[in-house]
Amino acid sequence: MSGSTITPWVVGNWKMNPMQADASALLQNFKQLLNNQNIVEENCHIGIAPVAIALTAVRDSLKQANRTILTVAQDVSRVAGTGAYTGEISAELLKDNAIDFVLVGHSERREIFDEQPQILNEKVKNALNAGLTVIYCVGESLEQREAGQAEQVVLQQICDIAAVVNAEQWKNIVVAYEPIWAIGTGKTASPEDAQAMHAKIRQGLSQITAEGQNMAILYGGSVKPENAVELAACPDINGALVGGASLNAESFYKIAQAFANTK
Ligand code: 13P
Repeated sequence: MSGSTITPWVVGNWKMNPMQADASALLQNFKQLLNNQNIVEENCHIGIAPVAIALTAVRDSLKQANRTILTVAQDVSRVAGTGAYTGEISAELLKDNAIDFVLVGHSERREIFDEQPQILNEKVKNALNAGLTVIYCVGESLEQREAGQAEQVVLQQICDIAAVVNAEQWKNIVVAYEPIWAIGTGKTASPEDAQAMHAKIRQGLSQITAEGQNMAILYGGSVKPENAVELAACPDINGALVGGASLNAESFYKIAQAFANTK
């Protein structure tokens, strides 16, 4: 037991994977595992973030599971509504397609697609205004960590969005701490280091909003069944954002089970 009253979240970020046939087998296998040994909703929210083109198919497939599994978009447009914006998907269009959750601020979007705080703020604002729940990702690079700046960088990323989130909307935000050096590298932050950063994030959030004590703060970066139990035992780690291991039904299931067992 972690002692936390916050229901954990375990979300699989499929990134730019997999091909259709593999996605379909992965969903089948995952639903089968859930059907065999259920993880109840009250013990763990479970979500899957597929590529945009698969969102509605995944949403429909997940409806056949014996419990709610959330379909999460990996991105949303910085532009709201509808209009002449070739290639974009707005928060309103996601909502209209019954996609109620979205990732914003993933380090791959910050770094590879050069999404600066101003752009991320527009995305967060649009998503919240359209009624979506935002999984807002933060995290420092190895360089920043080695320079002793990790805390400052992460807290600044939290402060950035405070300008666009109103008092009522903080309950629709989940934070995901993903140290960049731990993503896809097999290197996980130690439970002690992760817990220390999560506690700082909670402290920072609590200075901004009364919701801070109730907000889920997920850890991401090489989460796998082998380290999930230890991470889940930390009081301020309220779930996981899982990349690589979410592409294997059994691994993803075991991670969800590790977090559900803390309740
Ligand atoms: P990995 O679990 O593959 O390290 O990816 C983490 C991540 O970026 C999830 O969003």
